[in-house]
Amino acid sequence: MTNIYAVILAAGKGTRMKSKLYKVLHPVCGKPMVEHVIDQISNLHTQKIVTIVGHGAEEVKGYLGDKSEFALQAEQLGTAHAVRQAEDILAKEDGCTLVVCGDTPLIKSETMEALVKYHQEQKAKATILTGYTEHPDGYGRIIRSQEGTVERIVEHKDASSDERQVKEINTGTYCFDNRALFETLKKVSNDNAQGEYYLPDVIEILKDAGEKVTAYQTQDFDETLGVNDRVALSQAEKIMRERINIKHMRNGVTLISPENTYIGPDVTIGSDTVIHPGTVLSGHTVIGDDCQIGPNSEIKNCRIGDHTTIRQSVASDSEIGCDVAIGPFAHIRPASHIHDEVKVGNFVEIKKSVFGKGSKASHLSYIGDAEVGSDVNIGCGSITVNYDGKNKFLTKIEDGVFIGCNSNLVAPVTVGKGAYVAAGSTITDDVPGESLSIARARQVNKENYVQKLNLNE
Ligand code: UD1
Ligand code: CA
Repeated sequence: MTNIYAVILAAGKGTRMKSKLYKVLHPVCGKPMVEHVIDQISNLHTQKIVTIVGHGAEEVKGYLGDKSEFALQAEQLGTAHAVRQAEDILAKEDGCTLVVCGDTPLIKSETMEALVKYHQEQKAKATILTGYTEHPDGYGRIIRSQEGTVERIVEHKDASSDERQVKEINTGTYCFDNRALFETLKKVSNDNAQGEYYLPDVIEILKDAGEKVTAYQTQDFDETLGVNDRVALSQAEKIMRERINIKHMRNGVTLISPENTYIGPDVTIGSDTVIHPGTVLSGHTVIGDDCQIGPNSEIKNCRIGDHTTIRQSVASDSEIGCDVAIGPFAHIRPASHIHDEVKVGNFVEIKKSVFGKGSKASHLSYIGDAEVGSDVNIGCGSITVNYDGKNKFLTKIEDGVFIGCNSNLVAPVTVGKGAYVAAGSTITDDVPGESLSIARARQVNKENYVQKLNLNE
């Protein structure tokens, strides 16, 4: 087995994006472009992955963490110069090296695998992944001889008007013999329209030295879309979204309106779950089987069981069990753990709380920093008073408790097992289990009061 290495070019600033954010960090379906590329490469069996960083180096490294090694390109002198920065890590290795641009987020591992295979079969020193497009503007063009062999790549800005008619383009993904690559890079000059060291020039230099160069053309142009500006970014977003949505539908998930459903690349959804329009699922969200999600719901980094319904609601960084009903218009904030068969109804906010099995907060509640046992009923409008302006405190509501409507539970406080809190109470002291606590002024009825009022007039 030949060793395979990969170099990802991610040092450019991305001037055409007109953005404060470095180009390769612009998200497509919620994930930075360069991370899409690395995640696809990670499906191949590579010995080393080296990402070339420059602009925003620390941020890019921060995003990618231990998914890649890094080499710094302090000055952006062109794509050939960028690859040279991996010399210390790679130059002495034997094998094939894939070079991929960090701004082609749609590239798939299957295509890179096919490219490597073709390269090996052809026993070539370099193989270019090419695409065919009716709109080749901006891309490097593949110049072939009359016999059809690849001769060189000419950049759009350096191309003659005849060359600009060519519709076969350089996708920016290549497979090289590793040693030949690093030897040839030394010979690349910057004598061109942009004054840059072009990686594509390696092709012509190898060819002139009598080495074999080939091209592998992908049928799916979409996959090779290079994102240089926000128009291309929106195209990439659309294609990626469709790709993700189709994957889920093939897996047995119903999307009522795929055009209006936004699912991140790392989301998992079980079969027979129905996703309604206007739903945004992101991060490492996992949804079980037979759920109803949406319409108009936003769920980030949540783990959700089976048979759960979430309507018109927002949930993040939380765990939600099976047979749970959330919404409409509920908000589940981070670090909440909602057990099975819970009901969280309209205008209920839950933050950093455990909600035990079968418990209910059906209307207009705020439950923050609380441990709620099982089979608890929290009446309409009741809240935990968790904050004194400086610190947060815990409210404990034990199993089987009934909290009457519009109660305030001033933390730290515990309502013991099976206790009742009368509606309208403001509870500041612990309530013993099995008791009834009433903490409000007693009602006074002043009979015939209105008549007395009228007499005084
Ligand atoms: C490049 C190719 C072009 C190809 C196109 C495909 C060159 C000279 N041209 O053009 O043939 O059709 O990609 O999308 O290679 N980068 C660095 N350091 C640098 C310069 C660039 O790391 O000094 C990185 C960028 O961050 C980017 C990638 O290399 O991820 C490509 O650079 P870019 O400027 O976007 O090249 P294109 O003009 O798109
Ligand atoms: Ca580009």
